[in-house]
Amino acid sequence: MNLKEIKNEFEKLIIEIKDEKKLYELKVKFLGKKGMLTEIMKKAKTLEPTERPAFGKNVNEIKEYINQKLENKKESLIKKSVEEKLKKEEIDITLPSRNIDFGGINPLNKIIEDVEELFVSMGYSVAEGPEVETDKFNFEMLNLPKNHPARDMQDSFYITKELLMRTQTSPVQAREMLKAEGKCPIKIICPGKVYRRDNDDSTHSHQFTQIEGLVVDENIKFSDLKGTLEHLIKTLFGKDRKIRLRPSFFPFTEPSVEVDIAWETEDNNGEEKWLEVLGAGMVHPNVLKMAGIDSEKYSGFAFGIGPERIAMLKYGITDIRIFYENDIRFIKQFSKEVEEK
Ligand code: DAH
Repeated sequence: MNLKEIKNEFEKLIIEIKDEKKLYELKVKFLGKKGMLTEIMKKAKTLEPTERPAFGKNVNEIKEYINQKLENKKESLIKKSVEEKLKKEEIDITLPSRNIDFGGINPLNKIIEDVEELFVSMGYSVAEGPEVETDKFNFEMLNLPKNHPARDMQDSFYITKELLMRTQTSPVQAREMLKAEGKCPIKIICPGKVYRRDNDDSTHSHQFTQIEGLVVDENIKFSDLKGTLEHLIKTLFGKDRKIRLRPSFFPFTEPSVEVDIAWETEDNNGEEKWLEVLGAGMVHPNVLKMAGIDSEKYSGFAFGIGPERIAMLKYGITDIRIFYENDIRFIKQFSKEVEEK
């Protein structure tokens, strides 16, 4: 083959190349150590010395030409394969998306939110207090001096002699009254966690929740407390639900009551059963005095609600531990029921 034929042969072959491997083989065939152009260079020796430079120049030009063509082809092959890949990987944005999995509200939080909403609509504000509380606020300011026998009602987690995990939300009453510096009215509720040294079982938990309520003003009477509690229970359970107030004892209220809610189960033959859901009473004058409030001029009522008990009754839950496990199957099943109610 002469130079011209080599060039023509190359032109013919390169058109058919479809991939980089074949392109490389073509390069070797023409430009490699044993390639056609290297071979033809050997012919130079057989030429007249005067013809050699022109021949060499020709060969080099063709080499360059072939090289350039190979480069161009390589580029276009790469471009084509990228385009094909992109086409294959194209995302179809018209596909419907996967469902996003939502959790749900814990029924306990739902009860707390409902109670907050109700009291805020009656002009109460929502207060907070520390979960690590001093002995002074958790007991003494609530008319439970050291060694008072009623302290046995609440087995406590002590951190030091003076510090403990609060056993009730009632210390927030004392804190809020002190904050008011003797000025009334005071109308607050305080939801939060409390802690007791109980062994966990289906009805006990070492940590549970309470919602405290406190109203202090001129002329606050027991009938105000009763009306408020009735309104609360009817809002949560509907107006036909029966409740009863039972005389009870708390050191920080006098008189004190406990409120039970009627519930029916299949195994008690339609007979009413009662479950205690809150404690309440008229604020003891000692508690008002210790917090700097004039107990001659002002009186008040207070209550402490157990949201777990309310949720158990309202949604038919029989094991308190399930509130704290956050099992998504429970929470989800619940959020549906919560929304329907
Ligand atoms: N702190 C009480 C308890 O944990 C509940 C309670 C009863 C709170 C009477 C009150 C109240 O504010 O007046 O058992």
